[in-house]
Amino acid sequence: MRTQVAIIGAGPAGLLLARLLENAGIGVLVLERRSPDYVLARIRAGVLEQGSVDLVDEAGVGARMRAEGLPHDGIEMRFDGDPLRIDFQARTGKRVLVYGQTELTRDLMEARAAAGAASVYAAEDVAIADFDTPHPSVTWRHGGALHAADCDFIAGCDGFHGATRASVPVEAINTFERVYPFGWLGVMADVPPVRDELIYAHHARGFALCSMRSRRRVRCYLQCPLDTDAADWSDERFWDELRRRLDPEIAEAMQTGPSIEKSVAPLRSFVAEPLRFGTLFLAGDAAHIVPPTGAKGLNLAASDVRYLAEGLIGHFRERSQAGLEHYSARALARIWKAERFSWWMTKLLHTFPDDSAFDRRVQRAEFDYLRGSAAAQTALAENYVGLPA
Ligand code: APR
Ligand code: PHB
Repeated sequence: MRTQVAIIGAGPAGLLLARLLENAGIGVLVLERRSPDYVLARIRAGVLEQGSVDLVDEAGVGARMRAEGLPHDGIEMRFDGDPLRIDFQARTGKRVLVYGQTELTRDLMEARAAAGAASVYAAEDVAIADFDTPHPSVTWRHGGALHAADCDFIAGCDGFHGATRASVPVEAINTFERVYPFGWLGVMADVPPVRDELIYAHHARGFALCSMRSRRRVRCYLQCPLDTDAADWSDERFWDELRRRLDPEIAEAMQTGPSIEKSVAPLRSFVAEPLRFGTLFLAGDAAHIVPPTGAKGLNLAASDVRYLAEGLIGHFRERSQAGLEHYSARALARIWKAERFSWWMTKLLHTFPDDSAFDRRVQRAEFDYLRGSAAAQTALAENYVGLPA
């Protein structure tokens, strides 16, 4: 078997890349370890920058996102009960679109199926070889049989725990990492959001976030210790703790209901450098992780894919190597700015167990500065809505 680009992983990065390449007439093979149902049961982030929305539209899969996504002109913040609204529209002229990553993944899966393009799901033991040459290959197991494909390029879109980054010799790759001493306990429930906008709250008991997926479905998070077991958290316990971390007015107005999903995720910052190894390119979570506080994970995956698709299309259509040569540096410049912003939002809003009294005063001063400074609010807003490509 032969293809032009072997894409490992059918999350949003892999599927969006596949779509953009196929639209340009480039042959792709998509290999995914899990089943379609498993992929669609994973609950992930839900905020799209304008640049991500535009890319989804350019890929021709934006219809449902446009119809069902909720445009947000700002966010609400609370610091120990003190309110602050960041007005994206006023400060940057831009807004974000609230639309679940799972829904976007579903749209991409359906678009591929409708176009008659098949992905290989339940592909076991995916392995890549010879990517230090112009003739790389991939092998995988499916239904007990071993399969192989030769290709021109491999796109590693297989997430943080995938096989592609792990195949790079250690001396060829640098990694940078920060792990945070807490996680997020998330709950999804079919009740109307308490406010029209997201609420990011700092509280001595820990950070809390009230997000949403639609006007009838909320997604809420609590900062929790790393060893938290979601099974120890009844719905009642979750909503009670969330109320304690919000101001009384919001706590009272908040509607609650039975959870339809509940899970714990650790927080991590991670970057791999470079993102190109011969004919292998890393994109999305395979290349970097941000803590979710800045809502950047999916948007970074989208900008990686934009740059990589441009590079691959330039190669196949115009025999131009410039896009592929610059991919790593171009993507990393954007990635590091998003890493900085995600780290900064995380530090501003969480309660760090080892913080001294001095650290806590500085954190408070950071919020007071933000509250009093139009320049600081503009800085937050322009990062949240997405820095220019
Ligand atoms: N072989 C094949 N597929 C694999 C392998 C493997 N060895 N390992 C992992 N995968 C698959 C996973 O099952 C998953 O479906 O790769 C896919 C990677 O998808 P995501 O983890 O969703 O990563 P990505 O597409 O880069 O999307 C980034 O996900 O975690 C969020 O915040 C992040 O929103 C961002 C988005
Ligand atoms: C979400 O809705 O899941 C969400 C929103 C904003 C964030 C993180 C997660 O910063």
